[in-house]
Amino acid sequence: MCGIVGILGKKPVALQVLDALKRLEYRGYDSAGVATLEDGHLARRRAEGKLGNLELKLSEAPLSGAIGIGHTRWATHGRPNETNAHPHATDKLAVVHNGIIENFAELKAELQAEGIVFETQTDTEVVAQLVTAKLRDGKSPMEAVATTLPRLRGAFALAFLFEGVSDMLIGARHGPPLAVGWGDGEMYLGSDALALAPFTDEVTYLEDGDWVVLTRTDAVIRDMDGHPVDRVRQRVPTNSFLASKGNHRHFMVKEIYEQPEVVARTIAHYVDFAAGLACPPPLPFAWKDLRRVSITACGTASLAGHVARYWFERLARLPVELDVASEFRYREAPLDPGELAMFISQSGETADTLASLRYAKSQGQRILSVVNVPTSTMARESEAVAPTLAGVEVGVASTKAFTCQLATLLSLAIAAGRERGTLSEAEERRLVAALNGIPELMTEALHLEGEIELLARDLARARDVLYLGRGTAYPIALEGALKLKELSYIHAEGYAAGELKHGPIALIDETMPVIVIAPYDSVFEKTVSNMQEVAARGGRILLVTDARGAREAAMDTMGTIVMPDCDPVVAPILYAVAIQLIAYHTAVFMGKDVDQPRNLAKSVTVE
Ligand code: G6P
Repeated sequence: MCGIVGILGKKPVALQVLDALKRLEYRGYDSAGVATLEDGHLARRRAEGKLGNLELKLSEAPLSGAIGIGHTRWATHGRPNETNAHPHATDKLAVVHNGIIENFAELKAELQAEGIVFETQTDTEVVAQLVTAKLRDGKSPMEAVATTLPRLRGAFALAFLFEGVSDMLIGARHGPPLAVGWGDGEMYLGSDALALAPFTDEVTYLEDGDWVVLTRTDAVIRDMDGHPVDRVRQRVPTNSFLASKGNHRHFMVKEIYEQPEVVARTIAHYVDFAAGLACPPPLPFAWKDLRRVSITACGTASLAGHVARYWFERLARLPVELDVASEFRYREAPLDPGELAMFISQSGETADTLASLRYAKSQGQRILSVVNVPTSTMARESEAVAPTLAGVEVGVASTKAFTCQLATLLSLAIAAGRERGTLSEAEERRLVAALNGIPELMTEALHLEGEIELLARDLARARDVLYLGRGTAYPIALEGALKLKELSYIHAEGYAAGELKHGPIALIDETMPVIVIAPYDSVFEKTVSNMQEVAARGGRILLVTDARGAREAAMDTMGTIVMPDCDPVVAPILYAVAIQLIAYHTAVFMGKDVDQPRNLAKSVTVE
């Protein structure tokens, strides 16, 4: 998703802006740009594609202004070319924008009727033109922005730089996050603290509806009504800042390898090792008082919720309603007051999940968020937060955040089961022991990488791939298919194994790999029957199972990945490693950009 940077510095800032933009690359983007004031006059450099192209332009035609704004663009309105790249400018100002101005067509028509000619296909240009019109009417930059903001509908974060104004930037937030960074005689704006990490670790997060006037020594924040407001100035721990790839080729594989450590750290937060019991930090509600739970999320996080549904229903006998946030937010689901609404998000900023959270809140739900970024909007707006301790996740495709979400959700389900009297102490101890064993088993599973890499070469030739699973292996099959398609662009579908005969079986022939996720559990034999149906039609099976499953299945496969033995309840956490490595190696073999797959974004702050 788009990234915003603004710097009021003491020296030329263009390269600092570029540096900050590099730290926002992980969000996914397709063009980029910088604007500064050169002797008081606006100057821009913009480029299609990766930041390297912008860097080249800046080396050919450097900018020397000590005030500037920058942007990485993830296209919404208009193709990702240089014309549509931000900053957008008039003779009065330059502006960068993250989000969508939903009423842009109406505003554009109004401006066009007044004779304004538009250069781009973006929604952002209407903001530039609206503020410019007010400046032409004699308003000050502050007045011009203040009177424009109420006219904009949708979700947006904005940063403005004005012609001839060398000691002021204006930022505004209505949806996507925007942070103010405090320096020594320098001030910053950034989509997140990560972008500003080289310059400062002291930030203030704007609240929804806030806008800020930055000078080199101060930041005056106002709310939607123009009243000055105090917002907390906080230190963001340096360990939450962007790490390097280390010896790894990509962030994604580094993050896959970090899983034993970060999952162990997350489990330690929720489990009392000495007692062998689940002990999540106290929550402001009692599990035994609940009659149902709704779980809402997007993408990979929603698949963590899908696994959790099995856990909460089976272990805590608590009915779970599950939906993707983009549907939930508009479904007008009837929610009985006092029930629990859970939201799962790595970033804590995903627009649809946040809107769903606000809807649930308005319906009198208790709000619990499972988030990885503790300073995120969702964390701030939730009644209770169950943190995942995955650390910064840079790869656009979520890996370690997913397994930490699973570990957190299972711990919560065990605690809920105990409190609701549906799990005996002996069962709880068994499950906690199984959970504690997971990090070591993940390390063992990582040793299968070489084998998976070889199988991936075969998969890379496929046009379509089917993933099958039953029980908690079903959402893992869905996640396997999602990972493969987002990284390798091979068409992949995940299906409940039992649904095979209701449609996807028609696709099966000798060209179609079918990846079956099947730990040896209570439904294993049923899955084997589905594998037989695939084999009978010439389908090629890649079986991901354990030693017993491999023995019992006794089938000809294109490959069998034998995972370490584990309790079936914790299997989804372990089997996630296999499907991540399958997708990663297939994509790497095909030469794809696994850390920033085409068209994808992290921290999806638009609908
Ligand atoms: C994007 C990312 C996914 C992620 C999803 C939800 O689509 O590419 O990896 O699962 O957003 O993000 P969240 O930050 O809410 O977990």
